[in-house]
Amino acid sequence: MTGMLDGKSALITGAGGGIGRAAALIFAREGARLAVADANRDAAQDTVAMVNAIGGQAISLGGDVTDDRAVQAMVRATIEAHGGLDCAFNNAGIAGYQVDASGKRTAEWSEAAFDRMIGVNLKGVWLCMKHELLHMQAHGGGAIVNTGSIAGLVGLPTSSAYVAAKHGVLGLTKTAAIEYAPERIRVNAVCPGYIRTRMTEDVMARRGDAILSMVPAKRMGTPEEIAELVVWLCSERASFVTGACYNVDGGYYAV
Ligand SMILES: NC(=O)c1ccc[n+]([C@@H]2O[C@H](COP(=O)([O-])OP(=O)(O)OC[C@H]3O[C@@H](n4cnc5c(N)ncnc54)[C@H](O)[C@@H]3O)[C@@H](O)[C@H]2O)c1
Repeated sequence: MTGMLDGKSALITGAGGGIGRAAALIFAREGARLAVADANRDAAQDTVAMVNAIGGQAISLGGDVTDDRAVQAMVRATIEAHGGLDCAFNNAGIAGYQVDASGKRTAEWSEAAFDRMIGVNLKGVWLCMKHELLHMQAHGGGAIVNTGSIAGLVGLPTSSAYVAAKHGVLGLTKTAAIEYAPERIRVNAVCPGYIRTRMTEDVMARRGDAILSMVPAKRMGTPEEIAELVVWLCSERASFVTGACYNVDGGYYAV
């Protein structure tokens, strides 16, 4: 059996947990050599141990995606370790509670919280894309997937800067897809609904019943259900797919 990503080198950010960790394991299952990046280096190392345990090949990288030099170093380290960069999953992100904005409406967000949210969830994706695109452009192409959200498609109460950042991620995705399609670089986004990770523990504790009542599937998704789409988008099977934003949300956006 051949894997969907046999022979490919992939960088995954935010891979110390949740969706990024699930993606690392599924990318490894499909044959990719990985760079597992996370601001929490210990968590990234734990993911690498899990990848190794299933026979995969991975390095761990630290660094904050809001720091241009750190991102450049992540991309360089991936290329040095694995001889190139074919696929990238720009997935690192934070929720409102991580910037002390839990439950706050738009006018109640502090400037520092707004800036940090936009910094990680929007600028961080742009910085990753920038360094990935420069390499892929010079080496015959590649595939990039960004983590958007249903919050990139609709408004969500008490999540204003998160919503703004995720709308921005979809705009960046579509624009880069158009710009780089002639150079054989595909750029797509995945838009998860409510997925069971550390990120959603706060909001589910506050509004879980109300949220699940709005999800036709009547349950949260799993990180693996996102990762299965991402690995396909990175593979040659998706060779004509670019500039697209796919919802994986149990029907939330269809209502
Ligand atoms: N869980 C959901 O329901 C859901 C829904 C829609 C979108 N998302 C998005 O999915 C992505 C992954 O989230 P998750 O649910 O797996 O959460 P998570 O908290 O489990 O994982 C996020 C990871 O990103 C890392 N990270 C945070 N800030 C970083 C930074 N500045 N630099 C580098 N790494 C950083 C964290 O250390 C963490 O390991 C995020 O972009 C999030 O916005 C999640």
